[in-house]
Amino acid sequence: MANQNDKTDVSEGQIAAHWKEEEFIFPTTGFVGQANMADPNVFERFGEDNYPECFREYADLLSWDQYWHTTLDSSNPPFFNWFVGGKLNASYNCVDRHLEKNGNKVAFTWVSEIEEEPDRVISYRELWVMVNEFAALLKDFAGVKTGDRVTLHMPMVPELPVTMLALARLGVTHSQVFGGFSGSACGDRIVDSESHILITSDAYYRSGTLLDHKSKADEAVEQAKKGGIEVKKVLVWQRYPGKSSTSTAMKNSRDYYVNDIIGKYRGHRVEPISLPADHPLFLMYTSGTTAKPKGCQHSTGGYLAYVTGTTQYYQDIRPEDVYWCMADIGWITGHSYIVYGPLSVGASSVLFEGVPNYPDPGRPWRIAERLGVNIFHTAPTTIRMLRKAGPDEPAKYDYNFKHMTTVGEPIEPEVWRWYYDVVGKGKAAVVDTYWQTETGGFIGTTLPALEPMKPGSCGPGALGIVPVILDDDGNKIEPGSGKAGNVCMSNPWPGRMQTIYGDPDRFVDTYYGKYAKKDSKKWEDWPYVTGDGGTQGEDGYIRVVGRVDDVINVAGHRLGTKELESAALTVSEIGEAAAVPAFDELKGRVPELYVSLKPGVDSSEIESLVKGAISTIIGPIARPSEVWITSDLPKTRSGKIMRRVIASISNFVDVGDVTTLANPEVVEEIKEHVQSAKFKSGNVPKDLPESMKKEIERFGED
Ligand code: WTA
Repeated sequence: MANQNDKTDVSEGQIAAHWKEEEFIFPTTGFVGQANMADPNVFERFGEDNYPECFREYADLLSWDQYWHTTLDSSNPPFFNWFVGGKLNASYNCVDRHLEKNGNKVAFTWVSEIEEEPDRVISYRELWVMVNEFAALLKDFAGVKTGDRVTLHMPMVPELPVTMLALARLGVTHSQVFGGFSGSACGDRIVDSESHILITSDAYYRSGTLLDHKSKADEAVEQAKKGGIEVKKVLVWQRYPGKSSTSTAMKNSRDYYVNDIIGKYRGHRVEPISLPADHPLFLMYTSGTTAKPKGCQHSTGGYLAYVTGTTQYYQDIRPEDVYWCMADIGWITGHSYIVYGPLSVGASSVLFEGVPNYPDPGRPWRIAERLGVNIFHTAPTTIRMLRKAGPDEPAKYDYNFKHMTTVGEPIEPEVWRWYYDVVGKGKAAVVDTYWQTETGGFIGTTLPALEPMKPGSCGPGALGIVPVILDDDGNKIEPGSGKAGNVCMSNPWPGRMQTIYGDPDRFVDTYYGKYAKKDSKKWEDWPYVTGDGGTQGEDGYIRVVGRVDDVINVAGHRLGTKELESAALTVSEIGEAAAVPAFDELKGRVPELYVSLKPGVDSSEIESLVKGAISTIIGPIARPSEVWITSDLPKTRSGKIMRRVIASISNFVDVGDVTTLANPEVVEEIKEHVQSAKFKSGNVPKDLPESMKKEIERFGED
């Protein structure tokens, strides 16, 4: 992790927070009256005196084939093991156990992006049939076995949870790559996870266009081959069952339409395999400080217990509710709070294929009205976008939310208020859920019936988790001191990832390297480092200000600067590249790329080449908003690129003292070039949020 200690004399702990404290807002009595968890004794049950046994309460929400003997084995930190000795199956817990009482209850109502197309309504019993038949196919036709990994590259269709659950049923670890990622990004993840089967779809809708997705599978297989992994079979689900929606050819004896072969498995049933609690359920790749994404490995028992408990208490889903999380299942939010948590508690959920503003920004509210959605879950970037495009739309529709979630980035109090007043019509309890791919589930949030909301702060630590803000020397920053520092969690919890797949050293180093007493065998000496900066109010509420490492959070999606830079460097004309975040009203942050060219090359095509390379290698979400060509990049005398300086330029903040740089003269030159272009195009931030300024102050050098 880039450590900025030496670049300024202001340490993270000394950066004071200047925003005003917000008032508490209390949930309505109507909400409290019906809530799943309104018993204040829960705080005592999950108090430090009852740690770690408190997490039994979550694990007891599951059906175990064999009960565990040890709640937490912390003898080998930071490889903590939960519910040791226990055995269970995630697919059984999410599907089979609901059949007896709730077989006909709706598991998913899938909504096509095309408004005229009918919904697909899938009951728990139908889900069970689909999962069994596909598991039979996987076992027999694809030859997968317990302990294998299989890569998925699927869009938002019901077949995605079906595939995940079928694999979980067999004890095969799934690795779903976000459908919007490129074929080559998928290929890299196939290599890292050593998968020999790829499961994908032929096509899906995005903003009204049916996109060919099968072509990405061909690229992924090619890329995997370069990395030394042969994909033996590609299984392709069809967007319109029985009909091909792709013009990309199917490769003989490698590519198969699931629809062509599933008939053979009609009526087949596959016993869920009883697995140890620490059996890896899935991998989810996320960005970090190096170019190589990390495969966060999540367990079966600890993870499922944690997402089930937090779904029950924090999402407050009751049997009669209709829940809609608008995230993509390709991200951790979808895994935890569309698939595993909600299915485990037997929820009825909406699955939406499309984008929220197609064909217009009234679409989400029409869906909510039509399907009776009363719990809604989305990200600040979507809220900002819907607010901008259709501030008055929610009032036109007759839906009633009792509960709303925001996740993925810090939410500005102003945007929070629109969500609360206009979307929630002043009636819905809001939870601002702070967490990460690595944490499996919420780590900072209010418990909606028992803790008041505070716009802009996620809330205190989730039940059983004790957050602490540490300065660079590892000293605790006292709550209420107004100072920002590194957000850490002082104790282990069951949802935390087990390791980075194939790289345990990187796991230890990334999340524990900064503060752990490495020789200690006590969990107390191993605080978990989130990589986020934040402050804690006197009330214990945390306000996350942004990343302290080299990660850019674009519309709630994490992109590593190194990943962006190495993609840019595939353009042969480029000598050096640096990626920095620029403030964006809707997306929070957007990446800007600064590049210097090799001598004597033509610069005219560079911008489109860099944008194209990044879209192809990572995916369109990573496409930089600007590519700035500079004669040189500002560097320290030891040759490190000062991203903080160029990030300051991109965001019109003071670059600070640059006289100690090796090449201070380029700073003025770059500033002149970039800022005059931004003035010309009107791309100048009006009110740069305090949090963005802090993020820049800490931004990496390398
Ligand atoms: C940020 C998404 C402020 C944070 C679940 C974190 C948030 C990163 C919030 C993880 C929130 C997530 N308030 N910031 N409520 N939720 N973040 O892995 O920087 O895609 O470290 O997981 O998003 O992003 P990831």
